[in-house]
Amino acid sequence: MLKIALTGADGLVGSRIIELLKNDFEFISLPQKLMDITDRVQVNSALKDLDFDIFFHLAAYTNVPGAETNRELCFKINVDGTKNVFETVKEKNKKFIYVSTDFVFDGANPPYIEDSIPNPVGVYAQSKFEGEKIIGSEAMIVRIAYPYRAAFELKKDFFRTFKYYLENKKPLSMITDSLMTPTFIDDIGSGLKYLFNNYSPEIYHLVGSESISPYEAAIKVAEIFEFDKSLIEKTTYEEYIKGRAKLPQFATIKSKKNNFWKMKGFEQGLIEIKRQLTK
Ligand SMILES: NC(=O)c1ccc[n+]([C@@H]2O[C@H](COP(=O)([O-])OP(=O)(O)OC[C@H]3O[C@@H](n4cnc5c(N)ncnc54)[C@H](OP(=O)(O)O)[C@@H]3O)[C@@H](O)[C@H]2O)c1
Repeated sequence: MLKIALTGADGLVGSRIIELLKNDFEFISLPQKLMDITDRVQVNSALKDLDFDIFFHLAAYTNVPGAETNRELCFKINVDGTKNVFETVKEKNKKFIYVSTDFVFDGANPPYIEDSIPNPVGVYAQSKFEGEKIIGSEAMIVRIAYPYRAAFELKKDFFRTFKYYLENKKPLSMITDSLMTPTFIDDIGSGLKYLFNNYSPEIYHLVGSESISPYEAAIKVAEIFEFDKSLIEKTTYEEYIKGRAKLPQFATIKSKKNNFWKMKGFEQGLIEIKRQLTK
């Protein structure tokens, strides 16, 4: 069984990947309290005698608005931290996978495929792209976009934020003139199962099969979970981003390489989540 050492194992994406693939791979979790990736000495000593086949690097500073005022911390974790783990893993001649984001693209000229040219807007996006540059073509980069799952106590994804508002009869103001590509984390898990077994040092996009506006996404959540759609108001991209961290407007990301797992559209993902929640 392949041994996968990973950072960020307790996070939104990592914890679900482990739940889904724990019978297929042996996961060795390296939480921050054991190995702070910003501390090169700690990274060296944690990895020195560790036996693994692939290092799966998920840990990151992920607070997009927070990054605008915490640039230094964001870069320390996402850039220096990535450099620390990547260089140490390279010295051990082991395979490495870096998880990145659709936000490396500016959203001006969609769609974006694996070899589209990044142009990140915003501090978080820039830090993730700097991380990609450290990896270059020496290891695998997997870009994901707007990941969501049925349940997770520690952090709400966009889907569960919408659901929480609608469930609690709170109004939502949603953008009509922008696009996002929601990705069901269970599909990311299935895609990763293939990529762990078929490792190659190149870029892959593991992203949902359709791009929709945040407004349409909220409407879909209301429809599938039978909430009151009239709680969802419309706004524009320009109106929404006033005073906020910049977001790519048309974040249509696609894959020209994923011929190994059929990713769901948002509606199919929601139907599967509803099934999981009522099981
Ligand atoms: N969520 C999204 O919308 C999204 C979209 C596209 C791409 N991504 C990428 O997907 C990956 C996973 O995201 P996520 O949403 O699952 O993350 P998350 O839930 O915010 O979790 C982040 C993880 O990073 C770890 N971490 C932070 N600082 C660390 C440090 N100094 N040393 C070691 N570990 C540290 C945290 O560990 P502790 O809990 O121990 O602090 C936590 O497990 C990230 O690389 C992110 O950039 C996420």
